[in-house]
Amino acid sequence: IPVDPFDLVIFGGTGDLAKRKILPALYRRFCAGQMPGDAKIIGAARSEHDAEEYRAFAHDAIQEFSDPQACSEAGLTAFLNRLDYVTIDARGEDGWAELADKLTERRVRAFYFSVGPGLFGDLAERIHSHGMVTDDTRIVVEKPFGHDLPTARELNKTLAAHFDEGQIYRIDHYLGKETVQNLMAVRFGNMLFEPLWNSQYVDHIQITVAETVGVGGRGEYYDKSGAMRDMVQNHLMQLLCLIAMEPPAKFDPDAVRDEKLKVIRALGEVLPHHIVRGQYEADPEGPQAHGSYRDAVGNPRSRTESYIALKTHIDNWRWAGTPFYLRTGKRLKARSSVINVMFKDTPHSIFGDEAGRHANVLSIRLQPNEGITLQVTIKEPGPGGMRLIDVPLDMTFSETLAPEDADFPDAYERLIMDVIRGNQTLFMRGDEVEAAWAWTDPIIAGWEARNDVPKPYDSGSAGPRDAELLIQRDKREWRGITP
Ligand code: BG6
Repeated sequence: IPVDPFDLVIFGGTGDLAKRKILPALYRRFCAGQMPGDAKIIGAARSEHDAEEYRAFAHDAIQEFSDPQACSEAGLTAFLNRLDYVTIDARGEDGWAELADKLTERRVRAFYFSVGPGLFGDLAERIHSHGMVTDDTRIVVEKPFGHDLPTARELNKTLAAHFDEGQIYRIDHYLGKETVQNLMAVRFGNMLFEPLWNSQYVDHIQITVAETVGVGGRGEYYDKSGAMRDMVQNHLMQLLCLIAMEPPAKFDPDAVRDEKLKVIRALGEVLPHHIVRGQYEADPEGPQAHGSYRDAVGNPRSRTESYIALKTHIDNWRWAGTPFYLRTGKRLKARSSVINVMFKDTPHSIFGDEAGRHANVLSIRLQPNEGITLQVTIKEPGPGGMRLIDVPLDMTFSETLAPEDADFPDAYERLIMDVIRGNQTLFMRGDEVEAAWAWTDPIIAGWEARNDVPKPYDSGSAGPRDAELLIQRDKREWRGITP
């Protein structure tokens, strides 16, 4: 179903995110027939270009990061004709009147702040002073949303001076991933799981987001952030919330976000010996020969973590006594984002201990190979007596769904269309982001006060050995990526 006609202004329109994600996502939605033919996309940035040059930039972006064949040749031209460009000075007045002139009266207008947070205030102020805010105006902001609680509060205050909370779309692209949304469908669309979804039946929960990439060209940003700020405070936190929250009364933005906020506020303190930080070492010989983390960020004395594992708990009625183990890192042995809900053993085995004891595991794979698998116990086939084995009830989407349904849109496609539709369910609310920082800050302050030095780990490994010990001390094992 096509969305309503809209004008979308991309500040930072010639930047990396616009090139890799925003323009390719818009193009794919256009090809899918979801973007109305008279929508307008206006790139805005400091550099001098005209509309023609911006179309050439978008064309290159589509060549590199999308499938140009998603549309016919005519479709590609029609999409590029939707693009326009304004040279703008975020901190001065140049270009603003021209931008205001290009906007259409009485239709949805979205301003995408694909720029550093240092410019949010300047942009918000000028959008306002140039009379561009209407009832149907939305702004989209990217992470990092602050560096800690005080800076996040400051950003929220800056935006709130010019926009209502209902107009602010804070992106966490993990929420746009198909399987993340499926998590809610599985929990709240089936009778099977919810009655067991608590500390009485769930032994523990593991959330792993493992990457094979390093810090790439983002060393300067990353070295000031580390895995805790870059991944845990936002992406892993959002996954934890969706797994742990109470059923919202409706699939409606505030109902969902109220429940997520309650989870964040109930997160317990993380003890120092429940945290393992790591930093990857060089791999000069491997297929993707590369230097160490410290080489990549150009800081030989860096103490920033490129890996973190931690154990936390949620202090509420449902989850008291169920630990949550989280881990994420770069340059690990495989790319794999998965949530494992590890159920308890049966209370008693009627088959005797020699049959083996097994527990159910629900695995939700976000990427790659999206799908959901439930591990169940059956009898080992054959005449050998009653021995139990585990088998998967497997819903690998590429096998279970029709091919056209298993070709999932990129997270940005879904999220940008939600902005146009005015649906904030998959975006973070200001209080949520602040609560997440309020949990993160003391953990970081703790290791800074202890002068904690991250443990080195080999590239292509499962992370530092101590992360194995963290869970083994509790007589448990990580699933998926292991040494
Ligand atoms: C970003 C982080 O938010 O998410 C990156 O800043 C990380 O460091 C990326 O690589 C992971 O996203 P995805 O979609 O590739 O899992």
